[in-house]
Amino acid sequence: MSQSKAYSTKNDLSADLREKMIPLLNARLADSIDLQTQCKQAHWNVKGPDFIALHELFDKINEDVDAHLQPER
Ligand SMILES: [Fe+2]
Repeated sequence: MSQSKAYSTKNDLSADLREKMIPLLNARLADSIDLQTQCKQAHWNVKGPDFIALHELFDKINEDVDAHLQPER
């Protein structure tokens, strides 16, 4: 039995398909948050001669992932 709660929506997916999508979307959301956390960890801890290039790259990747997680901003 599912523990999820589906809210009313205007999309045309069937209730059964929506129910199946919930755990898949939750897993991808968790993956994206994990990627962001790892990018920030790398951003803060990168060392060496390529520091600034990698430091900025990890921050840019984090920003791009954030845009997918919070498209309204
Ligand atoms: Fe920085």
